[in-house]
Amino acid sequence: MPLTSRRSAALNGDIRVPGDKSVSHRALILGASAVGETRIHGLLEGEDVLRTAAAVTALGAQVDKVEDDIAGSDAGPYWRVRGRGVGGLAEPASVLDLGNSGTGVRLLMGLLATHPFTTVFTGDASLATRPMGRVLEPLSRMGANFTAREGDRLPVTLTGAETPAPIRYVLPVASAQVKSALLLAGLNTPGRTTVVEPRPTRDHTETLLTHFGATVTVEDQPGGGRAITLAGQPELTGQQVTVPGDISSAAFPLVAAAMVPGSRITIGGVGVNVLRAGLLETLAEMGARITLTNRRRDSGEDVADLEVEASPLTGIEVPAERAPAMIDEYPILAMAAATAAGTTRMTGLGELRVKESDRLAAIARGLAAAGVQVEEGADTLTIHGSKKPPRGGARIQTNLDHRIAMAFLTLGLVSEEPIAIDDSAAIETSFPGFAALMNGLGARMSARTEEAENP
Ligand code: S3P
Repeated sequence: MPLTSRRSAALNGDIRVPGDKSVSHRALILGASAVGETRIHGLLEGEDVLRTAAAVTALGAQVDKVEDDIAGSDAGPYWRVRGRGVGGLAEPASVLDLGNSGTGVRLLMGLLATHPFTTVFTGDASLATRPMGRVLEPLSRMGANFTAREGDRLPVTLTGAETPAPIRYVLPVASAQVKSALLLAGLNTPGRTTVVEPRPTRDHTETLLTHFGATVTVEDQPGGGRAITLAGQPELTGQQVTVPGDISSAAFPLVAAAMVPGSRITIGGVGVNVLRAGLLETLAEMGARITLTNRRRDSGEDVADLEVEASPLTGIEVPAERAPAMIDEYPILAMAAATAAGTTRMTGLGELRVKESDRLAAIARGLAAAGVQVEEGADTLTIHGSKKPPRGGARIQTNLDHRIAMAFLTLGLVSEEPIAIDDSAAIETSFPGFAALMNGLGARMSARTEEAENP
């Protein structure tokens, strides 16, 4: 499914983006681990999350979508999960295929590491290249056993511990997925499981665990880190969860409106958890005009409406310490940098090499193909913006990476010549309806080839 985006006039309108992917996975997993019924409003109905819904169903939870909530206080459709209680999941009858989803597979490995049965995990060609040792190694310290393909890749066969042991584990990489896998393993483990993170990462798991009734304590560490401790074997009870709009999805229309001259848009109900909102800070430093209004709190998460209007952007230094708070936003930030005046240097990007694709390489290759001057280092990216629109005229290989696809489509809106992507299918993992939503604002994204439009 190729898709082409073309230079567009000003973007205008009020939109909402789909639910937060991270929160959606966690709400389903904790709902499945709770006693009673959980109602999830605003769940992301993207492929990644639907894979997690299918997985927890295969593990014995009941998951369905309820179109009408006449009796409840919250109107509108919701997802209902009838859980099995902590430690109550059952051995699945067949392989769990998590598709493209690193979060789904790693969090479920954690959860099942302390259930005494065997699960086989697999995924698509992208997920099969990604490292699983970062979760499997600490989970084996808790008593789980596993076999994996060379390099700790999928498929993985995991047998959960009969008698799980709590651990204290210092994360070698800043990863919310690894932290969350260990906390979820700690649910069915007696005693206290502690994860120490040298740099704070997104804390949705901690927030939702508390929301479902677990006791989680967080201690600040010298040097800015945190130690997170879960008291094992809590009784979790079904809850009402409202999923905020995904800031990692909002990032695309946000940057589009900041870049396309004359634009002004509002994105309602976006999660602005400070551990996710590094892009807002970075864009503000570049000169973007973004205002947060109607700030509120829902299911323990900070939410706001984002108003953005186009303004000239300037290149900056993006500090490495900020990477965990905007790790998924570098592809779209790089597009903003390509249109800014001056050089933007981004450091501490090593983790980008093990995302849905090697994003550092994909950004550098794609920008160079679109006529932007860019230097790729081992874990750095330097982009030389020029105030002029980039040349464009590139065909980008997306390699099953949704954010690479959406980032380059966004750049096409300000390029002299169109930018095409070879395959838009991966966008469905996180942002169903992306092109239609953008086109509703005035963007020009279509499946037509250039020849068809200009015969
Ligand atoms: C996520 C954590 C991040 C992020 C991913 C979602 C999560 O990955 O890139 O898209 O939901 O915990 P890492 O934990 O590997 O940094």
